[in-house]
Amino acid sequence: MRQPLIAGNWKMNGTRSSVETLLLSVISGASAISKTEIAVCPSFPFLELGERLLTGTTIKLGAQNICTKEVGAYTGEVSANMLAEFSCQYVICGHSERREYYGETDTIIAEKVSICVKKGMKAILCVGETLSQREQEQTESVIESQLENVIKQLGIDIFNHIDIAYEPVWAIGTGKTATPEQAQNVHGFIRQKIAIHNTVIAEKIRILYGGSMKAENAHDLLSQSDIDGGLIGGASLIANDFLAICHAGDAVASQN
Ligand code: PGA
Repeated sequence: MRQPLIAGNWKMNGTRSSVETLLLSVISGASAISKTEIAVCPSFPFLELGERLLTGTTIKLGAQNICTKEVGAYTGEVSANMLAEFSCQYVICGHSERREYYGETDTIIAEKVSICVKKGMKAILCVGETLSQREQEQTESVIESQLENVIKQLGIDIFNHIDIAYEPVWAIGTGKTATPEQAQNVHGFIRQKIAIHNTVIAEKIRILYGGSMKAENAHDLLSQSDIDGGLIGGASLIANDFLAICHAGDAVASQN
């Protein structure tokens, strides 16, 4: 039985005071969530605040990015040790916005996953196709190559320390969500691909869905057999919306 994970990707949003308010609201609502693991990923400057407020709660802290290097002259970068020192337990790696706007390749992403895991944190590895790739029926080949590149570079065992997030690029921040069936098809495909390398890991690994998941569609998506949680952007910035998705996770977990 895979415990659902609902992770908020706050992206480059918030101020010191709005992040504090959001954290406090999520903390207070999360006491009613018992079966779903919750994580929030604020921007780097707010990690200290996140650590301070989340200590003693069940909510995990995550980061949105990580440097591939350990230490040294890498202006503007943030290292794995720094993230671990601020109690980060998750790091989002390979988000499509990083792939698209910051030129992150599969090789760089695998390096990020590697250093994150080496320092004891869990990577949330994002994969997903663009609209034109979907239209050209390349969804499976794109995702297969994103996964296989990580496996080739790091080996399958690294997937013991990874949650995968399937995030169709055309659904991110657009209000267009993959239908539960579309999402399930890809999630099933991902699990199958992992199973070719290791059936135990394939059964154990969580595959989150990301792309306009919200309170209204969370239950249907999370009810699919291979959807084990969500990586939530827009809806994670509103505490009640995010908590409603966590409640959907709990409801589905109770049925299983
Ligand atoms: P969204 O973003 O929920 O706003 O579509 C998801 C993500 O980018 O992780």
